[in-house]
Amino acid sequence: MNIADIRKDYKLKILDEKLINHNPMIQFESWLTEALEAKVNEPTAMVLATATPDGFPSSRVVLLKAFSSDGFGFFTNYSGRKGSEISSNQKVALLFHWPELERQVRIEGLAKRTSPQISDDYFNSRPFESRLSAVISNQSQEVPDRNYLEQLWVLQQSETATGELVRPDYWGGYIVEPQRIEFWQGRSNRLHDRILFTHESDGWRILRLAP
Ligand SMILES: Cc1cc2nc3c(=O)[nH]c(=O)nc-3n(C[C@H](O)[C@H](O)[C@H](O)COP(=O)(O)O)c2cc1C
Repeated sequence: MNIADIRKDYKLKILDEKLINHNPMIQFESWLTEALEAKVNEPTAMVLATATPDGFPSSRVVLLKAFSSDGFGFFTNYSGRKGSEISSNQKVALLFHWPELERQVRIEGLAKRTSPQISDDYFNSRPFESRLSAVISNQSQEVPDRNYLEQLWVLQQSETATGELVRPDYWGGYIVEPQRIEFWQGRSNRLHDRILFTHESDGWRILRLAP
């Protein structure tokens, strides 16, 4: 196997300044809709990159659960690694890759906790079993083995009536308020289209980047 020989030419679509919506959130919505229509695998999965205050980065996949003019929302455990990194450094990056459409979207901005009400509403909309897992998981901490987690889950299940499981304080949402959003469309011969939106005091500035 020689992975250096793996090559794919991108020729599905183009991205043009004249076609792009001048509001990047509306542009994002239209690309997400196309990703859903194209039935891409896990269309709402995004890589979230955080960093320690001294700049050491870490990344992982989370699911986009909401977006609006305010930003991009996801839910997690506030006490895990990403949560503790965000609590000391709000600067994060998000990345969507939709290979079936030869597209990526890169977002950079500030992560802020959603209101307790938004976190409650989403937590309560989740299946009971998922809520149980969120409650018993001390996310990112070492556990002795798988059995330990399963026993904790069963114990919590036996102690909790379905309606009683309330969101713990250590679990909730973040919204990433974007400062930069870049739309990337793969093109032939590696001459890709890259349109970048940067947030300025008077609105969004649009520019094209070299591939
Ligand atoms: C497809 C996919 C979706 C995921 N969605 C979430 C999510 O929405 N929230 C979350 O906390 N973890 C999610 N995870 C797990 C994270 O990638 C990660 O393992 C976990 O959040 C712990 O990260 P941390 O130790 O950096 O805090 C997902 C993983 C995958 C592969």
